[in-house]
Amino acid sequence: MARVHVSAPLVGDATERLAAAHDVEIGRLGDDADAWVTLLTDPIDDARLAGAKALRVVANVAVGVDNVDLGACRARGVVVTNTPGVLTEATADLAFGLVLAACRRIAEGDRLVRAGGWKGWSPSFMVGGRVHGATLGIVGLGRIGQAVARRARGFGMHVLYTQRAPLPEPLARALGATWATLDDLVAASDIVSIHCPLTPETRGLFSAARLSSMKAGSVLVNTARGPIVDEGALAAALEHGPLAAAGLDVFADEPRVHPALLALPNVVLTPHIASAEEATRAAMASLAVDNVLAVLAGKPPLTPVG
Ligand code: GLV
Repeated sequence: MARVHVSAPLVGDATERLAAAHDVEIGRLGDDADAWVTLLTDPIDDARLAGAKALRVVANVAVGVDNVDLGACRARGVVVTNTPGVLTEATADLAFGLVLAACRRIAEGDRLVRAGGWKGWSPSFMVGGRVHGATLGIVGLGRIGQAVARRARGFGMHVLYTQRAPLPEPLARALGATWATLDDLVAASDIVSIHCPLTPETRGLFSAARLSSMKAGSVLVNTARGPIVDEGALAAALEHGPLAAAGLDVFADEPRVHPALLALPNVVLTPHIASAEEATRAAMASLAVDNVLAVLAGKPPLTPVG
């Protein structure tokens, strides 16, 4: 029986499966564990790993692993796993929800109605941006980006995408997605949706300069990681142009939201809930547990990282 520490209670019955085979503790990641089940809010760096001499696996209950120092884990012989695939559709749904909410001013309209600010229908009242037929730029056409592209087809959108290596042509064609450089994508898109991981390369990718090169009246959606966008510069671009609106599910310093963003009516803010759907969260927990069980049994993990 190995000692498995789970950072916080998980959705579903996966922890029970773990407890049937191992000694499980929920609510702490101790130095005395053989395995950690971590959340994206747990920073796992070399200092954190130093005391955990028996640790064999860090199973992150997230697809993003920017909270884990992969090099430090590798150097210490600790396997890292994540939960790709199981949250793809839920995350794409939320991204598309933010596209619709930001473009069509749904959250802003809701606030206005509740505040008694609705004085009646008028031709120019709460006019927003077009979704159907618009050009959508997808930054990172991995699993989630592709799921967003599939949704975009249903809205008759023109889809551009950027990433280091273009997709094999038949796959890109099936998705109706055309490769572009980031500069060209940003200049041509009515809506930009971010789906790349947070890495040293993508940190600050949407800088003041990049944001100012976006199309007048365009919309930015981020369901990836907050630090990819310069939040102060985003607030300025929403206030003074060129952006008309934004939809954000992730923030640079969660749960803190940049005060300049909080003050703006044209940004829809959700509290990092893209995968927050019962079946998805249970599947994430289950995959993390399966990874732990595999590593502790001396088998290869299902979804290793790095
Ligand atoms: C959520 O943000 C994840 O990376 O799974």
